Amino acid sequence: MLGNFTYHNPTRIHFGKKALDFLPEELSAYGPRVLLTYGGGSIKRTGLYDRVLDLLRAADKEVFEDPGVMPNPTVEKLYKGAALAREHDVDLILAVGGGSVVDYAKGVAASAWCTEDPWQKYYVRQENPDCCLIPVGTILTMSGTGSEMNGGSVITNHATKQKIGKVFGPENFPKFTLLDPVLTYTVPRYQMVAGIFDVMSHLMEQYFSGTDDNTSDYLAEALMRQLVHASRIAVHQPEDYEARSNIMWTATWALNTLTKMGKGQDWQVHMIGQSIGAYTDATHGMTLSAVSPAYYRFVALYGLPKFVRFARTVWDIPSDGLSDEAAAEAGIAALESWMREIGVVMHITELGVTPDMLEGIAAGAPSIPTAYHPLSKDDIIEILRRSM
Ligand code: NZQ
Ligand code: ZN
Repeated sequence: MLGNFTYHNPTRIHFGKKALDFLPEELSAYGPRVLLTYGGGSIKRTGLYDRVLDLLRAADKEVFEDPGVMPNPTVEKLYKGAALAREHDVDLILAVGGGSVVDYAKGVAASAWCTEDPWQKYYVRQENPDCCLIPVGTILTMSGTGSEMNGGSVITNHATKQKIGKVFGPENFPKFTLLDPVLTYTVPRYQMVAGIFDVMSHLMEQYFSGTDDNTSDYLAEALMRQLVHASRIAVHQPEDYEARSNIMWTATWALNTLTKMGKGQDWQVHMIGQSIGAYTDATHGMTLSAVSPAYYRFVALYGLPKFVRFARTVWDIPSDGLSDEAAAEAGIAALESWMREIGVVMHITELGVTPDMLEGIAAGAPSIPTAYHPLSKDDIIEILRRSM
Protein backbone atom coordinates (compact mmCIF):
# COMPACT_ATOMS: atom_id res chain seq x y z
CA MET A 1 0.00 0.00 0.00
CA LEU A 2 1.34 3.41 -0.85
CA GLY A 3 1.52 5.80 2.09
CA ASN A 4 1.88 9.56 1.92
CA PHE A 5 4.69 11.13 -0.03
CA THR A 6 5.79 14.16 -1.98
CA TYR A 7 7.49 13.50 -5.29
CA HIS A 8 9.58 16.29 -6.76
CA ASN A 9 12.44 15.80 -9.17
CA PRO A 10 13.58 19.13 -10.64
CA THR A 11 16.43 17.92 -12.90
CA ARG A 12 15.89 18.74 -16.58
CA ILE A 13 17.26 16.00 -18.85
CA HIS A 14 18.34 16.39 -22.47
CA PHE A 15 18.82 12.89 -23.87
CA GLY A 16 20.30 11.55 -27.10
CA LYS A 17 23.00 12.19 -29.68
CA LYS A 18 22.11 15.88 -29.81
CA ALA A 19 22.12 16.39 -26.02
CA LEU A 20 25.18 18.67 -26.06
CA ASP A 21 23.38 21.06 -28.41
CA PHE A 22 21.33 22.13 -25.39
CA LEU A 23 24.34 23.33 -23.40
CA PRO A 24 24.26 26.97 -24.68
CA GLU A 25 20.57 27.29 -23.81
CA GLU A 26 21.17 25.89 -20.33
CA LEU A 27 24.25 28.06 -19.74
CA SER A 28 22.31 31.20 -20.58
CA ALA A 29 20.37 30.87 -17.31
CA TYR A 30 23.48 31.44 -15.16
CA GLY A 31 26.07 34.14 -14.54
CA PRO A 32 29.42 34.30 -16.33
CA ARG A 33 31.68 32.39 -13.91
CA VAL A 34 31.74 28.64 -14.42
CA LEU A 35 33.72 26.01 -12.51
CA LEU A 36 34.47 23.20 -14.96
CA THR A 37 34.87 20.03 -12.89
CA TYR A 38 36.18 16.76 -14.31
CA GLY A 39 38.08 13.59 -13.52
CA GLY A 40 41.45 12.09 -14.31
CA GLY A 41 41.65 12.90 -18.00
CA SER A 42 39.23 10.70 -19.95
CA ILE A 43 37.37 13.77 -21.22
CA LYS A 44 40.60 15.12 -22.71
CA ARG A 45 41.39 11.82 -24.44
CA THR A 46 37.91 11.58 -25.96
CA GLY A 47 37.80 15.18 -27.20
CA LEU A 48 34.80 16.06 -25.02
CA TYR A 49 36.85 18.61 -23.07
CA ASP A 50 37.53 20.62 -26.26
CA ARG A 51 33.89 20.50 -27.33
CA VAL A 52 32.67 21.71 -23.94
CA LEU A 53 35.30 24.43 -23.68
CA ASP A 54 34.36 25.73 -27.14
CA LEU A 55 30.71 25.92 -26.09
CA LEU A 56 31.60 27.68 -22.82
CA ARG A 57 33.73 30.24 -24.66
CA ALA A 58 31.04 30.80 -27.30
CA ALA A 59 28.68 31.53 -24.41
CA ASP A 60 31.13 34.16 -23.08
CA LYS A 61 31.79 32.29 -19.86
CA GLU A 62 34.83 32.82 -17.68
CA VAL A 63 36.01 29.28 -17.01
CA PHE A 64 37.85 28.09 -13.90
CA GLU A 65 38.99 24.48 -13.95
CA ASP A 66 38.83 21.88 -11.20
CA PRO A 67 40.35 18.72 -12.71
CA GLY A 68 41.50 15.48 -11.07
CA VAL A 69 38.35 14.31 -9.33
CA MET A 70 39.28 10.73 -8.49
CA PRO A 71 36.94 7.70 -8.54
CA ASN A 72 35.51 7.64 -4.99
CA PRO A 73 36.21 11.36 -4.39
CA THR A 74 37.99 12.17 -1.14
CA VAL A 75 37.26 14.63 1.62
CA GLU A 76 40.58 16.43 0.96
CA LYS A 77 39.55 17.02 -2.65
CA LEU A 78 36.16 18.27 -1.45
CA TYR A 79 37.80 20.88 0.80
CA LYS A 80 40.02 22.08 -2.07
CA GLY A 81 37.12 22.26 -4.52
CA ALA A 82 34.99 24.20 -2.06
CA ALA A 83 37.81 26.73 -1.54
CA LEU A 84 38.23 27.11 -5.32
CA ALA A 85 34.51 27.66 -5.91
CA ARG A 86 34.42 30.25 -3.12
CA GLU A 87 37.61 32.01 -4.24
CA HIS A 88 36.23 32.53 -7.76
CA ASP A 89 32.65 33.10 -6.58
CA VAL A 90 31.35 30.86 -9.37
CA ASP A 91 27.79 31.03 -10.68
CA LEU A 92 27.61 27.43 -11.91
CA ILE A 93 29.50 24.17 -11.45
CA LEU A 94 29.59 22.19 -14.68
CA ALA A 95 30.46 18.57 -13.87
CA VAL A 96 31.69 16.53 -16.83
CA GLY A 97 32.31 12.86 -16.05
CA GLY A 98 30.95 9.85 -14.19
CA GLY A 99 29.18 9.55 -10.86
CA SER A 100 32.28 10.52 -8.91
CA VAL A 101 32.56 13.89 -10.65
CA VAL A 102 28.84 14.58 -10.31
CA ASP A 103 28.74 13.51 -6.63
CA TYR A 104 31.74 15.68 -5.92
CA ALA A 105 30.20 18.68 -7.69
CA LYS A 106 27.12 18.45 -5.45
CA GLY A 107 29.38 18.26 -2.41
CA VAL A 108 31.31 21.35 -3.53
CA ALA A 109 28.05 23.17 -4.32
CA ALA A 110 26.91 22.73 -0.72
CA SER A 111 30.34 23.25 0.87
CA ALA A 112 31.67 26.41 -0.81
CA TRP A 113 29.65 28.76 1.39
CA CYS A 114 29.20 26.44 4.37
CA THR A 115 30.48 28.02 7.59
CA GLU A 116 31.11 24.64 9.27
CA ASP A 117 33.23 21.63 8.32
CA PRO A 118 31.16 20.15 5.47
CA TRP A 119 32.44 16.59 6.05
CA GLN A 120 31.22 16.68 9.65
CA LYS A 121 28.01 18.56 8.90
CA TYR A 122 26.69 16.78 5.80
CA TYR A 123 28.33 13.38 5.76
CA VAL A 124 28.95 12.49 9.44
CA ARG A 125 26.01 14.30 11.06
CA GLN A 126 23.75 14.05 7.96
CA GLU A 127 22.49 17.64 8.38
CA ASN A 128 21.05 19.67 5.55
CA PRO A 129 22.64 22.79 4.07
CA ASP A 130 21.66 26.15 5.50
CA CYS A 131 23.92 28.20 3.22
CA CYS A 132 23.61 29.31 -0.37
CA LEU A 133 24.01 26.42 -2.84
CA ILE A 134 25.84 26.82 -6.13
CA PRO A 135 23.82 25.43 -9.05
CA VAL A 136 25.20 22.27 -10.68
CA GLY A 137 24.82 21.16 -14.30
CA THR A 138 26.16 17.85 -15.56
CA ILE A 139 27.35 16.13 -18.71
CA LEU A 140 27.43 12.44 -17.85
CA THR A 141 30.05 10.18 -19.43
CA MET A 142 29.27 6.85 -17.76
CA SER A 143 26.07 5.10 -16.68
CA GLY A 144 25.52 3.65 -13.25
CA THR A 145 25.06 5.80 -10.19
CA GLY A 146 21.97 7.83 -11.09
CA SER A 147 23.79 10.85 -9.66
CA GLU A 148 22.73 12.82 -12.75
CA MET A 149 19.16 13.06 -11.47
CA ASN A 150 19.37 12.68 -7.70
CA GLY A 151 20.78 14.35 -4.60
CA GLY A 152 23.36 11.68 -3.76
CA SER A 153 26.93 12.65 -2.99
CA VAL A 154 29.31 9.99 -1.69
CA ILE A 155 32.66 11.07 -0.20
CA THR A 156 35.50 8.93 1.11
CA ASN A 157 37.66 9.72 4.13
CA HIS A 158 40.67 7.40 3.95
CA ALA A 159 42.10 8.62 7.25
CA THR A 160 39.02 7.51 9.21
CA LYS A 161 38.18 4.61 6.83
CA GLN A 162 34.70 5.94 6.12
CA LYS A 163 32.84 6.20 2.84
CA ILE A 164 29.57 8.03 3.47
CA GLY A 165 26.75 9.14 1.20
CA LYS A 166 24.72 12.28 1.83
CA VAL A 167 21.40 12.48 0.03
CA PHE A 168 20.75 16.18 -0.51
CA GLY A 169 17.25 17.48 -1.22
CA PRO A 170 15.92 18.59 -4.63
CA GLU A 171 17.52 22.04 -4.19
CA ASN A 172 20.91 20.36 -4.73
CA PHE A 173 19.90 17.99 -7.55
CA PRO A 174 21.59 18.89 -10.86
CA LYS A 175 19.61 21.69 -12.49
CA PHE A 176 20.19 20.09 -15.88
CA THR A 177 21.86 16.96 -17.20
CA LEU A 178 22.96 16.17 -20.74
CA LEU A 179 22.82 12.42 -21.47
CA ASP A 180 24.44 11.42 -24.74
CA PRO A 181 24.85 7.61 -24.78
CA VAL A 182 27.62 7.87 -27.38
CA LEU A 183 29.84 9.47 -24.71
CA THR A 184 29.73 6.18 -22.78
CA TYR A 185 31.24 4.10 -25.62
CA THR A 186 34.79 4.80 -24.40
CA VAL A 187 34.16 3.64 -20.81
CA PRO A 188 36.56 0.72 -20.10
CA ARG A 189 34.77 -2.64 -19.97
CA TYR A 190 35.50 -3.13 -16.25
CA GLN A 191 33.85 0.21 -15.44
CA MET A 192 30.96 -0.43 -17.82
CA VAL A 193 29.96 -3.71 -16.17
CA ALA A 194 30.54 -2.27 -12.69
CA GLY A 195 28.11 0.52 -13.63
CA ILE A 196 25.59 -2.00 -14.95
CA PHE A 197 25.71 -3.97 -11.72
CA ASP A 198 25.38 -0.74 -9.72
CA VAL A 199 22.09 -0.10 -11.55
CA MET A 200 20.86 -3.64 -10.79
CA SER A 201 21.82 -3.18 -7.17
CA HIS A 202 19.97 0.13 -6.86
CA LEU A 203 16.83 -1.56 -8.13
CA MET A 204 17.22 -4.58 -5.84
CA GLU A 205 17.92 -2.40 -2.79
CA GLN A 206 14.56 -0.70 -3.28
CA TYR A 207 12.67 -3.81 -4.43
CA PHE A 208 13.62 -6.18 -1.59
CA SER A 209 11.57 -4.61 1.17
CA GLY A 210 7.93 -4.68 2.18
CA THR A 211 5.21 -7.25 1.55
CA ASP A 212 2.57 -4.93 0.06
CA ASP A 213 1.35 -4.54 -3.52
CA ASN A 214 3.28 -1.51 -4.68
CA THR A 215 3.62 0.26 -8.03
CA SER A 216 7.31 0.83 -7.33
CA ASP A 217 8.00 -2.94 -7.43
CA TYR A 218 6.38 -3.34 -10.86
CA LEU A 219 8.47 -0.44 -12.17
CA ALA A 220 11.63 -1.98 -10.71
CA GLU A 221 10.90 -5.35 -12.33
CA ALA A 222 10.51 -3.75 -15.75
CA LEU A 223 13.76 -1.82 -15.34
CA MET A 224 15.62 -4.94 -14.17
CA ARG A 225 14.41 -6.94 -17.18
CA GLN A 226 15.47 -4.15 -19.51
CA LEU A 227 18.91 -3.90 -17.91
CA VAL A 228 19.58 -7.64 -18.15
CA HIS A 229 18.54 -7.64 -21.81
CA ALA A 230 20.57 -4.57 -22.82
CA SER A 231 23.64 -5.57 -20.80
CA ARG A 232 23.87 -8.88 -22.68
CA ILE A 233 24.10 -6.93 -25.93
CA ALA A 234 26.43 -4.20 -24.61
CA VAL A 235 29.11 -6.58 -23.33
CA HIS A 236 29.50 -8.00 -26.85
CA GLN A 237 28.85 -4.79 -28.79
CA PRO A 238 29.82 -1.79 -26.64
CA GLU A 239 28.92 0.57 -29.49
CA ASP A 240 25.37 -0.71 -29.90
CA TYR A 241 23.49 2.57 -29.53
CA GLU A 242 20.19 0.92 -28.70
CA ALA A 243 21.69 -1.07 -25.82
CA ARG A 244 23.86 1.76 -24.45
CA SER A 245 21.03 4.28 -24.64
CA ASN A 246 18.64 1.96 -22.84
CA ILE A 247 21.22 1.26 -20.14
CA MET A 248 21.79 4.98 -19.68
CA TRP A 249 18.10 5.78 -19.29
CA THR A 250 17.47 2.73 -17.06
CA ALA A 251 20.38 3.81 -14.84
CA THR A 252 18.84 7.25 -14.41
CA TRP A 253 15.41 5.88 -13.50
CA ALA A 254 16.85 3.23 -11.19
CA LEU A 255 17.92 5.92 -8.74
CA ASN A 256 16.09 9.14 -9.45
CA THR A 257 13.82 8.54 -6.43
CA LEU A 258 10.89 7.13 -8.44
CA THR A 259 11.17 3.45 -7.53
CA LYS A 260 11.57 4.13 -3.81
CA MET A 261 8.19 5.81 -3.47
CA GLY A 262 6.08 3.99 -0.88
CA LYS A 263 8.95 1.63 -0.03
CA GLY A 264 10.86 1.00 3.21
CA GLN A 265 13.93 0.00 1.13
CA ASP A 266 17.00 -2.03 2.03
CA TRP A 267 20.46 -0.55 1.06
CA GLN A 268 22.34 -3.11 3.19
CA VAL A 269 24.47 -4.19 0.22
CA HIS A 270 25.46 -0.56 -0.37
CA MET A 271 26.37 -0.10 3.30
CA ILE A 272 28.66 -3.14 3.16
CA GLY A 273 30.01 -2.14 -0.28
CA GLN A 274 30.80 1.40 0.83
CA SER A 275 32.67 0.11 3.86
CA ILE A 276 34.68 -2.19 1.59
CA GLY A 277 35.39 0.88 -0.56
CA ALA A 278 36.65 2.80 2.47
CA TYR A 279 39.20 0.03 3.12
CA THR A 280 40.21 -0.76 -0.46
CA ASP A 281 39.20 2.18 -2.71
CA ALA A 282 37.74 -0.48 -5.02
CA THR A 283 35.32 0.34 -7.86
CA HIS A 284 31.86 0.93 -6.36
CA GLY A 285 29.84 -1.49 -8.51
CA MET A 286 32.32 -4.31 -7.85
CA THR A 287 32.08 -3.84 -4.09
CA LEU A 288 28.36 -4.54 -4.49
CA SER A 289 28.63 -7.50 -6.86
CA ALA A 290 31.16 -9.29 -4.67
CA VAL A 291 28.80 -9.43 -1.66
CA SER A 292 25.36 -9.60 -3.29
CA PRO A 293 24.91 -13.38 -3.80
CA ALA A 294 25.98 -14.15 -0.22
CA TYR A 295 23.79 -11.35 1.17
CA TYR A 296 20.66 -12.34 -0.74
CA ARG A 297 21.09 -16.01 0.19
CA PHE A 298 21.43 -14.92 3.82
CA VAL A 299 18.16 -12.94 3.88
CA ALA A 300 15.98 -14.73 1.31
CA LEU A 301 14.07 -16.86 3.83
CA TYR A 302 12.92 -13.71 5.65
CA GLY A 303 11.42 -12.18 2.50
CA LEU A 304 10.50 -15.36 0.68
CA PRO A 305 7.42 -14.21 -1.33
CA LYS A 306 9.40 -11.33 -2.88
CA PHE A 307 12.30 -13.60 -3.78
CA VAL A 308 9.89 -16.07 -5.43
CA ARG A 309 8.36 -13.18 -7.34
CA PHE A 310 11.85 -11.95 -8.34
CA ALA A 311 12.64 -15.40 -9.79
CA ARG A 312 9.38 -15.57 -11.71
CA THR A 313 9.08 -11.98 -12.93
CA VAL A 314 12.67 -10.91 -13.56
CA TRP A 315 14.23 -14.26 -14.53
CA ASP A 316 11.20 -16.11 -16.03
CA ILE A 317 11.60 -19.07 -13.68
CA PRO A 318 8.29 -20.96 -13.42
CA SER A 319 7.46 -21.59 -9.77
CA ASP A 320 5.17 -24.60 -10.48
CA GLY A 321 6.49 -27.71 -8.84
CA LEU A 322 9.18 -25.83 -6.90
CA SER A 323 9.03 -25.12 -3.20
CA ASP A 324 9.22 -21.42 -2.34
CA GLU A 325 12.74 -21.95 -1.00
CA ALA A 326 13.84 -23.63 -4.22
CA ALA A 327 12.24 -20.93 -6.38
CA ALA A 328 13.95 -18.18 -4.38
CA GLU A 329 17.30 -19.95 -4.72
CA ALA A 330 16.74 -20.36 -8.48
CA GLY A 331 16.22 -16.59 -8.79
CA ILE A 332 19.43 -15.83 -6.91
CA ALA A 333 21.29 -18.43 -9.00
CA ALA A 334 19.98 -16.77 -12.18
CA LEU A 335 21.19 -13.40 -10.91
CA GLU A 336 24.59 -14.94 -10.17
CA SER A 337 24.81 -16.56 -13.57
CA TRP A 338 24.04 -13.23 -15.29
CA MET A 339 26.72 -11.56 -13.15
CA ARG A 340 29.30 -14.12 -14.32
CA GLU A 341 28.12 -13.68 -17.91
CA ILE A 342 28.73 -9.91 -17.91
CA GLY A 343 31.97 -10.33 -15.93
CA VAL A 344 31.61 -8.57 -12.59
CA VAL A 345 33.80 -9.33 -9.57
CA MET A 346 32.42 -12.23 -7.52
CA HIS A 347 34.84 -12.32 -4.55
CA ILE A 348 35.95 -9.57 -2.19
CA THR A 349 39.49 -10.97 -2.15
CA GLU A 350 39.76 -9.78 -5.78
CA LEU A 351 39.20 -6.24 -4.46
CA GLY A 352 42.04 -6.48 -1.96
CA VAL A 353 40.01 -7.44 1.10
CA THR A 354 42.04 -9.51 3.57
CA PRO A 355 40.75 -11.44 6.61
CA ASP A 356 42.10 -8.85 9.08
CA MET A 357 39.83 -6.20 7.51
CA LEU A 358 36.51 -8.03 8.06
CA GLU A 359 35.91 -6.77 11.58
CA GLY A 360 36.49 -3.13 10.57
CA ILE A 361 34.44 -3.39 7.38
CA ALA A 362 31.52 -4.84 9.35
CA ALA A 363 31.83 -2.12 12.01
CA GLY A 364 31.68 0.54 9.27
CA ALA A 365 28.50 -0.87 7.66
CA PRO A 366 25.35 0.25 9.50
CA SER A 367 22.52 -2.28 9.85
CA ILE A 368 19.34 -1.33 7.97
CA PRO A 369 16.17 -1.69 10.07
CA THR A 370 13.81 -1.81 7.05
CA ALA A 371 15.64 -4.75 5.42
CA TYR A 372 13.94 -8.16 5.44
CA HIS A 373 16.41 -9.26 8.10
CA PRO A 374 18.32 -6.50 9.90
CA LEU A 375 21.88 -7.74 10.34
CA SER A 376 24.07 -7.90 13.41
CA LYS A 377 27.78 -7.17 13.09
CA ASP A 378 28.45 -10.92 13.27
CA ASP A 379 25.97 -11.50 10.43
CA ILE A 380 27.88 -9.00 8.28
CA ILE A 381 31.18 -10.70 9.09
CA GLU A 382 29.64 -14.04 8.10
CA ILE A 383 28.40 -12.59 4.77
CA LEU A 384 31.87 -11.14 4.13
CA ARG A 385 33.43 -14.54 4.88
CA ARG A 386 31.09 -16.21 2.41
CA SER A 387 32.08 -13.55 -0.18
CA MET A 388 35.85 -14.14 0.12
O1 NZQ B 1 38.34 10.15 -14.07
P1 NZQ B 1 38.21 9.89 -15.52
O2 NZQ B 1 39.47 10.05 -16.26
O3 NZQ B 1 37.08 10.65 -16.13
O4 NZQ B 1 37.89 8.29 -15.69
C1 NZQ B 1 36.75 7.66 -15.15
C2 NZQ B 1 37.09 6.82 -13.92
O5 NZQ B 1 38.40 6.36 -13.96
C3 NZQ B 1 36.27 6.63 -16.12
N1 NZQ B 1 35.34 7.16 -17.12
C4 NZQ B 1 34.14 7.74 -16.91
N2 NZQ B 1 33.56 8.04 -18.08
C5 NZQ B 1 34.42 7.65 -19.06
C6 NZQ B 1 35.55 7.08 -18.44
N3 NZQ B 1 36.59 6.58 -19.15
C7 NZQ B 1 36.50 6.65 -20.49
N4 NZQ B 1 35.42 7.16 -21.16
C8 NZQ B 1 34.37 7.66 -20.47
N5 NZQ B 1 33.30 8.13 -21.14
O6 NZQ B 1 35.58 5.66 -15.35
C9 NZQ B 1 36.18 5.61 -14.06
C10 NZQ B 1 35.10 5.53 -13.02
O7 NZQ B 1 34.36 6.73 -12.98
P2 NZQ B 1 33.46 7.05 -11.71
O8 NZQ B 1 32.84 8.38 -11.93
O9 NZQ B 1 34.24 6.85 -10.45
O10 NZQ B 1 32.35 5.90 -11.76
P3 NZQ B 1 30.85 5.86 -11.30
O11 NZQ B 1 29.99 6.59 -12.24
O12 NZQ B 1 30.54 4.45 -11.04
O13 NZQ B 1 30.83 6.67 -9.90
C11 NZQ B 1 31.21 6.05 -8.70
C12 NZQ B 1 30.98 6.96 -7.49
O14 NZQ B 1 29.59 7.26 -7.33
C13 NZQ B 1 29.17 6.91 -6.00
C14 NZQ B 1 30.09 5.75 -5.68
O15 NZQ B 1 30.13 5.47 -4.30
C15 NZQ B 1 31.42 6.25 -6.21
O16 NZQ B 1 32.04 7.13 -5.31
N6 NZQ B 1 27.72 6.64 -5.97
C16 NZQ B 1 26.86 7.67 -6.08
C17 NZQ B 1 25.49 7.53 -5.96
C18 NZQ B 1 24.54 8.62 -6.06
N7 NZQ B 1 24.95 9.84 -6.36
O17 NZQ B 1 23.34 8.44 -5.86
C19 NZQ B 1 24.89 6.22 -5.65
C20 NZQ B 1 25.79 5.08 -5.95
O18 NZQ B 1 25.31 3.97 -5.22
C21 NZQ B 1 27.23 5.32 -5.62
O19 NZQ B 1 27.47 5.11 -4.24
ZN1 ZN C 1 25.38 2.23 -6.10
